[in-house]
Amino acid sequence: MPRLGVNIDHVATLRQARGGREPDPVWAAALAELGGADGITIHLREDRRHIQDRDLRLLRETVQVRLNLEMAVAPEIVELALQAKPDQVTLVPERREELTTEGGLDVAGQIDRVGEAVRRLEHAGIEVSLFIDPDPRQVDATVALGVAAAELHTGRYAEAPEGPERLRELEALRRSGEALVAARLGLHAGHGLNYRNVADVAHIPRMAELNIGHSIICRAVLVGLTQAVREMKDAIDRTSAASIDG
Ligand code: PXP
Repeated sequence: MPRLGVNIDHVATLRQARGGREPDPVWAAALAELGGADGITIHLREDRRHIQDRDLRLLRETVQVRLNLEMAVAPEIVELALQAKPDQVTLVPERREELTTEGGLDVAGQIDRVGEAVRRLEHAGIEVSLFIDPDPRQVDATVALGVAAAELHTGRYAEAPEGPERLRELEALRRSGEALVAARLGLHAGHGLNYRNVADVAHIPRMAELNIGHSIICRAVLVGLTQAVREMKDAIDRTSAASIDG
């Protein structure tokens, strides 16, 4: 069974909406671990729109499963990764020019730049994975760099309507997966996976890791809402009982 890396960026997005301290992604990571997460995934973006440097520092200290840092090939972020030493870095596109048309990192188009970042990170003992489209050109370039793993971008699969189009996207994932496994790279996948579409991707032979965020956090909000409202009712009840007593 593939490992599940739980992406907690959206918890930080909610915190940033008010600029306060809650919900704290550090707490969310602990709860995800209690739920059985095999890894915690965070994306430190150059604009710091959700995860902050402080989160990376604290999560490095507190996460007991694998910590996977998604990041762009940007010098400032590479320096932070070298200091924090997550177990794994997944290089993703951030600036427009790093994108292929479909959305993965354009490894083939900037092999020297990506290779330089890979070497620095690996030298610090960090496993490196590249987030790529299931495209033979990108797979070949990734294999040529000799990284530990590649994460196949499942966005197009997830967005395709059920039926022949979805099956075509699944087949592209399978073929790229086969090539990566044959070259002895770890096979990861992620983006847009949810409770309905995850099984087919999880069953791709030798799938080692799935990184999932949005659908898990969405479900957490909804399955937790009834209890949260009940607890607020109790808190209001307690205050009114206290004011009657007083
Ligand atoms: N993997 C990578 C490389 C990502 O950039 C993201 C999104 O941050 C994910 C996985 C998780 O995607 P989602 O939130 O759609 O599950």
